[in-house]
Amino acid sequence: MKFFIKTYGCQMNERDSEAVAALLLSCGHEQARNENEAEVVIVNTCSVRDKAETKAVGKLGILASEKRPGQLIGVMGCMAQRLGAGLVAKLPGIDFVIGTRRLGALPRAIESAAEGARPFIDLGEHGADDSIPDAHLYGDRPAGAFVNALFGCDRRCSYCIVPAVRGHERSRPAEEILREVRELADHGVREITLLGQSILSYGRKGNAMPAGHVSPRGFTEPFPQLLEAVAGVPGIRRIRFTSAHPSGCTKELAAAFATIEQVCEHIHLPLQSGSDRILKLMRRGYTADEYRKAVDRLREATPEIALTTDIIVGFPTETEEDFEATRAFVREIGFDNAFVFKYSPRPGTAAAEWKDDVPPAEKLRRNRILLEDLDEIAMKRHGRRIGRICEVMAEGPSLRNRRKWAGRTRDFMNVVFDPPAGIRSGDFLNVVIRRATPQTLYGEVAP
Ligand code: 5AD
Ligand code: SF4
Repeated sequence: MKFFIKTYGCQMNERDSEAVAALLLSCGHEQARNENEAEVVIVNTCSVRDKAETKAVGKLGILASEKRPGQLIGVMGCMAQRLGAGLVAKLPGIDFVIGTRRLGALPRAIESAAEGARPFIDLGEHGADDSIPDAHLYGDRPAGAFVNALFGCDRRCSYCIVPAVRGHERSRPAEEILREVRELADHGVREITLLGQSILSYGRKGNAMPAGHVSPRGFTEPFPQLLEAVAGVPGIRRIRFTSAHPSGCTKELAAAFATIEQVCEHIHLPLQSGSDRILKLMRRGYTADEYRKAVDRLREATPEIALTTDIIVGFPTETEEDFEATRAFVREIGFDNAFVFKYSPRPGTAAAEWKDDVPPAEKLRRNRILLEDLDEIAMKRHGRRIGRICEVMAEGPSLRNRRKWAGRTRDFMNVVFDPPAGIRSGDFLNVVIRRATPQTLYGEVAP
């Protein structure tokens, strides 16, 4: 059957969608160019904020109301895991619901639903596995690839739905990760992004690195060891990872940034708040000062490392004073880019028990102010990049202006440039930076 996957949410979801596409292709299904020509439409969903769920539910509603005879509609991802059969009760047009750890059940879901056994629901409460097929490399050389390293999360941040929908932390054996990276490299992939909700916890519970593994740099922590091992795969030029937590920003991680050529000079290190009182309520496990020390360790080893972050405004009880503490801290650290989110209570989390007492208009105001601050800070930081020559990995035509191309620097800045003739995605170019906006650099390809 012809299938189409619509993806919401984070890179984890993007990676899952790619893996599911590969699995369905290997079972003889075909990829549709769009949802109209698809016989099976799968919506891969996110639950992180209420807005993400509302969007996916809206999409599913439209799909269900326009459903053609014989067409199947399925849901996977975090909202599928969270709501399960409740989704079908709300939207009876849905034919199957697959949990986050049951990707391998998708071919059977399609088969059963097509035969009329619907809805097919598998959330994997019993004996769930992490059946994740390798991602498939379609046609032309892809620019970069995501590789799962750590599933689930054992942190219990009071606002976060992820542990409920992605389960306990499980590290994927390094040998499996390396096998996938080798395969990707053989297909021409030059940039790998290792994925995990709190990826610096990789292997801390043991058994991820093979017994008797000897680190050439003498690393004793599994994540720096993994970075070193991935860097050893021939053909890999860039390694990234997401997301990080300050507790994992150890001396060894700093040394990995400084001494492993392939590890790019960028870290996404969610801050969430600059107020110790709020950080404590969030159960983030660090104070602003501990966050600062983590950044200092990294910057000491790699002075120009780029730093991006996530911040939540309007967390329960957040006062003007807490908010001002966040503003001051953000200014002090100096981020290259940041996402700001308005707090949204997630059912079943600890914070959802507390009154969501910051009014929506106030959340919006704090959101706007912080974004303005961040733009100003980013502009200052990007200014130093003007005139420099940066290595850019070309990704594809720019979304805003299709005659231009876009790519990323090693430090994760988005660069827009005029494409030289014959350019292909995945090409490495030297670009002279001429102009900066808060989110984007503009440059010319150096001869
Ligand atoms: N409300 C608002 N933002 C949230 N995030 C996670 N949970 C919530 C929530 N309940 C944000 C955090 C996280 C990012 C992926 O989403 O900033 O780092
Ligand atoms: Fe959304 Fe979190 Fe699930 Fe990613 S892991 S899709 S951000 S809820």
